[in-house]
Amino acid sequence: MCEGLLPLKTRGLCFEVRGKQIIDHIDPTVSGNDITVILGPNGAGKSVLLRLLHGLLEPSAGQIEWGGCRIDEGLRKRQALVFQRPVMMRRSVAENIRFVLSLREFSDRHERLEKALDLAGLTAQANQPAPRLSGGEQQRLAIAQAMVRDPEVVILDEPSSNLDPVATMAIERLIEVARGEGKKIILVTHDLSQAKRVGDEIIFMHNGRIVEQGTCAGFFSNPKTPEGRAYLDGALLL
Ligand SMILES: Nc1ncnc2c1ncn2[C@@H]1O[C@H](COP(=O)(O)OP(=O)(O)OP(=O)(O)O)[C@@H](O)[C@H]1O
Ligand SMILES: [Mg+2]
Repeated sequence: MCEGLLPLKTRGLCFEVRGKQIIDHIDPTVSGNDITVILGPNGAGKSVLLRLLHGLLEPSAGQIEWGGCRIDEGLRKRQALVFQRPVMMRRSVAENIRFVLSLREFSDRHERLEKALDLAGLTAQANQPAPRLSGGEQQRLAIAQAMVRDPEVVILDEPSSNLDPVATMAIERLIEVARGEGKKIILVTHDLSQAKRVGDEIIFMHNGRIVEQGTCAGFFSNPKTPEGRAYLDGALLL
């Protein structure tokens, strides 16, 4: 049994498909119970990296260690990954959360369900079919589903893409609650204002590589690489 999941370390991590290096020798260390934001242009490899870290994809080379342990089913259960395009069951909002709860032994299922609905601001919609929720409500449900199991690490892939400012703020409040509970958050976003608002640390990716890693304040005020600078200027293309 692995005690803590941090630090997260990878060594020479690669993911290759048909001769193309989608993740190309990545070695970051991520620690601290704060918010790590992954930035980078479309196709940089951010979503693939998240899937590798969570053990949903097998690396073609290299290693991943969470707190010194290899990712396996047991470790995966202590984390939650919210996908870029969450998929809801064609059942009610409450049933979608109950399903996640049914995957683990919880003696306080009812309390957890109520708390999750409240946190996501979905108590009034608890009995509505989940696929009928708006985009923002679905994203909030997806995060509530992730949080309800009390994971130690929450990995969020563009949780507020396509959302209006109010819905985006609601998502950020959920993220802040999770941070307040001591969870490690790894967040992919294209929203630079959001990265500035919530981020403590930035990992900047381009072409399957980590080009820069550092504090959020440092990256935005003084990016160290030409790629980082070009990205912030809106000038970096793949
Ligand atoms: N399973 C796969 N097999 C082959 N190629 C893949 C696979 N998954 C992703 N890719 C390719 O890898 C590259 C990186 O994809 P990824 O989804 O990680 O990008 P991203 O940084 O998340 O981009 P976006 O910001 O658009 O979400 C893309 O060119 C994509 O087409
Ligand atoms: Mg992606």
